[in-house]
Amino acid sequence: MSPVSYLLQRGTAMLMVPLIITHLAVIIMAVQGGLSAEEILSRTHGSMMWAGFYGLFVFAASIHAGIGMQTILREWTPLGRLASANIGHALIAILWVLGARAIYAVVWA
Ligand code: HEM
Repeated sequence: MSPVSYLLQRGTAMLMVPLIITHLAVIIMAVQGGLSAEEILSRTHGSMMWAGFYGLFVFAASIHAGIGMQTILREWTPLGRLASANIGHALIAILWVLGARAIYAVVWA
C-alpha cells in the first residue's frame, strides 16, 4: 500500500467515527415512533445539512472501502498490483455514484 493510500484509508476511518456515531444516534431516534418513509423524508427533504452529512459519509466510506478492497484482492487473489488498484478505483467510483443517487433521492427527488 502506498503512503498516500495508507493515509487516505486511516484518515477516512477517523473521519467516519463521528459520522457513524451520529448516524446510529439518528437511527435510534428515528425508529422511536416506528420507521416510515414520511418520517425520513420529512427530516432529509431539502436539507443541505443532511446532504452535506451523507455526502461526506459516502465520500469517506467509498475511499476507505475501495482502498481496503485493494489490499484484500492483493492478499487473497492472484491479481497483481495494477489490476487490484483498477478494481479498487472502479469500486470507489461505483460507490460514489450509488451514494450520490441515494442522497439525491432523500434530499431533492
Ligand atoms: C468508523 C468506521 C471504521 C473504522 C474506524 C475503520 C478502520 C479501519 C482500519 C484501521 C483498517 C485497516 C486495517 C489494516 O490495514 O490492518 C480498515 C480496513 C478496512 N476497512 Fe474499515 N473502518 C471503518 C469503516 C469501514 C466501512 C464502513 C467499510 C465498508 C464500507 C470498511 C471496509 C474496510 C475494508 C474492506 C478494509 C480492508 C481490510 C484489510 O486491509 O485487511 N471499513 N478499516
